[in-house]
Amino acid sequence: MRRCEMLKEKKEKFKNIGKVAIYPGSFDPITYGHIDVVERALEIFDKVIVAIAENEEKRPLFSVEERLGMVKAIFKETPNVMVDSFKGLLVDYVAKTNAKVSLRGLRATSDFEYEFHMASMNRSLSPQLDTLFMMTSKDYFFVSSRTIKEVARLGGGVEGLVPDLVVRRLREKFKLPVTKRKQIGWDD
Ligand code: PNS
Repeated sequence: MRRCEMLKEKKEKFKNIGKVAIYPGSFDPITYGHIDVVERALEIFDKVIVAIAENEEKRPLFSVEERLGMVKAIFKETPNVMVDSFKGLLVDYVAKTNAKVSLRGLRATSDFEYEFHMASMNRSLSPQLDTLFMMTSKDYFFVSSRTIKEVARLGGGVEGLVPDLVVRRLREKFKLPVTKRKQIGWDD
């Protein structure tokens, strides 16, 4: 086969695959900050794979099945988003897909050190894998899964920061006594 034909064939192959990004994380639980990153990434990539890390050592509030269920429900109308879970190294999971980019959201400079170490380690493990950082939109700068869980556990409202489905799941997890639920308006 002539070189120009080979190149044409290769180009055609890539055209069909499209540009794929992996968006790995714990998503314990998913927030509007995460959703904002996925929506903006879809402007750049043809497909985004939301890859939920099982990470049992992080003692997640939601099981991997619960997190998968929530994230799948949230993106059920978004055909270019695939939702999956993985165990073990991210680079091993990425190798099973046709993604070349790992996507991470950055809220503030304080996120940078952790992200920089993770991206550098991943690149050392797999030189083909690049990490792309997206700044979180200003509306969600202060939103993290950790603070969402803390506020919900203490009976604070997290509406508008996480989808309604997540609000309901958090309420189920942190079953508050009826008096407290009435006091903070959970039963309205
Ligand atoms: O939402 P998080 O908890 O900040 O996500 C962190 C995550 C899941 C992306 C990271 O812990 C990860 O990639 N875990 C898989 C294990 C791995 O590959 N570790 C090596 C990178 S330092």
